[in-house]
Amino acid sequence: MIKALDTVLAQFPRERTWLLPALQAVQHAHGWLSDDALTQVAAHLRVPATEVYGVATHYPELRLAPRGRHHLRVCTGVSCALLGGPQLLAGLTKRFDAAPDETRTDREVTVEAADCFFACSMAPAIEVDGEYRGRVTEAELADVESWFSHRRRHGSPSPMLAMESGVPTVAASARAALADLATLAHAKRGLGIRVIVQTGTCGRAVGADTLLEPLRAGINERGLDAELIEGACNGMCYAAPLVEVVTPESMRFVVERLQRARVAALLDALAAEPAKWPAAGIVPLAVHPFFKGQHRELLTRVGAVDPDSLDDALVLGAYSALARALDGSPDDVSAQVKASGLQGRGGAFFPTALKWEACRKAAGEPKYLVMNGEEGEPGIFKDRHLMEGDPHQVLEGVLLAAYAAGASRAILYIHGEADLSAQRLGWAVVEARAAGLVGERVLGRDFRCEVEVRRGAGGFVLGEETALLESIEGRRAQPRTRPPFPVEAGLWGRPTVINNVETLCAIPTIVARGGAAFAALGTSSAPGTKVFGISGPVRRPGVVEVKNGVTLNHLLHDLAGGSVDGRPLKGALVGGPSGSVVPAALFDVAMEPRGRVSPGTGGIVAVPAGASIADIVRTLVAFNARESCGKCTPCREGLPRLLALLDEAGSEDKIRELGETIQLASLCGLGQAAPIAVQKAFEIFGDELRGRR
Ligand SMILES: Cc1cc2nc3c(=O)[nH]c(=O)nc-3n(C[C@H](O)[C@H](O)[C@H](O)COP(=O)(O)O)c2cc1C
Ligand code: SF4
Ligand code: FES
Repeated sequence: MIKALDTVLAQFPRERTWLLPALQAVQHAHGWLSDDALTQVAAHLRVPATEVYGVATHYPELRLAPRGRHHLRVCTGVSCALLGGPQLLAGLTKRFDAAPDETRTDREVTVEAADCFFACSMAPAIEVDGEYRGRVTEAELADVESWFSHRRRHGSPSPMLAMESGVPTVAASARAALADLATLAHAKRGLGIRVIVQTGTCGRAVGADTLLEPLRAGINERGLDAELIEGACNGMCYAAPLVEVVTPESMRFVVERLQRARVAALLDALAAEPAKWPAAGIVPLAVHPFFKGQHRELLTRVGAVDPDSLDDALVLGAYSALARALDGSPDDVSAQVKASGLQGRGGAFFPTALKWEACRKAAGEPKYLVMNGEEGEPGIFKDRHLMEGDPHQVLEGVLLAAYAAGASRAILYIHGEADLSAQRLGWAVVEARAAGLVGERVLGRDFRCEVEVRRGAGGFVLGEETALLESIEGRRAQPRTRPPFPVEAGLWGRPTVINNVETLCAIPTIVARGGAAFAALGTSSAPGTKVFGISGPVRRPGVVEVKNGVTLNHLLHDLAGGSVDGRPLKGALVGGPSGSVVPAALFDVAMEPRGRVSPGTGGIVAVPAGASIADIVRTLVAFNARESCGKCTPCREGLPRLLALLDEAGSEDKIRELGETIQLASLCGLGQAAPIAVQKAFEIFGDELRGRR
């Protein structure tokens, strides 16, 4: 019996749904999960100890053995592998005399390989004691101890069970209630310029947060009429550490790769007229090549808004779509979303309005809305930018979706390592609740929606919607057989809508501008805009939003600036481990769901000339084989066999046959999509693959 655990566990009601949060809290407090700790969790929650053990061993982020005092992880995912990840892993294991994935016998250091930190635009990336470091060079490893810390660990241990609520009110209209909130927010706002340090996960990985203190001191010394804001990344990850400067007239400027040594010169320049700023490297955003070819609807405020301030979001228009919707009927919201043609951005492209309507009509109360912020697919990092960058937009989308689907409880499910997303969204919920935007009588109207945050604990399959529901119910993340579909019988058997973060972020703009206007931004088979994360060896890796029907040429050349070495790219990995390498010959084909080139979930990794397609395909198959949840045989047994056939240079016919079997007979999208990368590679890069055999 570990006495200190009693207090940790006391916060959790004795229900199975709290199993994962309880295990996370115990691990957060003690670093790992001992047998005694598991027994105590089982006793507190009244869940059989064997089942607690089953869950604890299932999720990769839960640790059943202590790790070293210092914990180093090196990303070897495709983007990082193309930019030197494996060399960093070899350098660190040598430097610390530690075998990969093992803790040294003196328990001082553990070095591990990781599949992706979802900060692919900062490749190659490593993690030291819970802190990501981006664009790491082999030379920096000589001083890696300077990054050691004893404080940080991933995960936010306690779900928010108790929070302050605003007093429920009755308002003449939701718009009037919102106008009151916005008036107060405007009154608190300063009149000077805004200096926004882009401290997203990507910025922090290259020290953007260390600019805050010198900037604050410099602003005070000079008596500048400027507000310093700890902001998010506006998508220009390649330019981090980045600062945005916004004038009182809302003109946006950027300063790329700001170093401490240049802070004084920047502040001196800001004292002059904005017309003189470009000469000092303070560049207007609107004419920047990274921005010119984008069409931003979901990313409008990202980078310009203070993600930790409801007031700031209100001044910039947040919740106006919600207010408008609450003054109408849920059917009006569904009708606009139907007219927008919005298809789910989580990869399956299911029409969003149909899902909501089915949930609304289904029998059973309460109904649930689950935000899928798991984003555990290597190479994809756009949802994190939306959650970190504009949490109130995400929350407004959640509330609108809940209203339309008839849900009274929303769960924001966020990846276990996406700490900043969870912190910012969690705080957004707290502020929104206090302002009467969450909880009873939202904006004084007859709509109630409770919102809570849950954290994942790793594993690609966890993002599959029914596996995610299993995890909320306190079980292993294994997909359910369908039917019934979640809209009929989802969380605890009740009607449940699960939507991707980007899908939800599109709702406020659709309601505000009208569905037809959003649809017109894309093509008939792919309406609206799409957010992409671009990584790999290009000049400007980052996050962009464009009209649907975009080509890879536009994304990789016009926006991302082409390859770093100026040579033509060989192709692009589109869609992570469920996707495939698209050859450069198809770079001018418009991307459309289920088209010749599908956008997938929105992760693009540039593949340079000279890269080995066989290595990339192997990385993807090995990942899928490791991530199989084991529930069905074709995936559990077939994927390791497929990997072995690739490694043994087995017959192409056997590889094709096995791939088809896995695709056809697997229960969920992981197995169904896993062989695609191999099949396409043989189709397109067959000569290269055969040459290696
Ligand atoms: C293996 C696997 C992983 C998935 N991971 C995610 C994910 O990380 N985020 C996500 O939104 N959808 C993911 N999905 C898709 C979800 O099952 C589901 O289709 C989606 O969340 C529905 O939201 P949407 O209709 O808004 O796209 C995954 C599917 C599979 C098969
Ligand atoms: S296809 Fe793979 S991941 Fe999906 S249920 Fe079957 S074993 Fe699990
Ligand atoms: S962070 Fe390395 S591949 Fe994603």
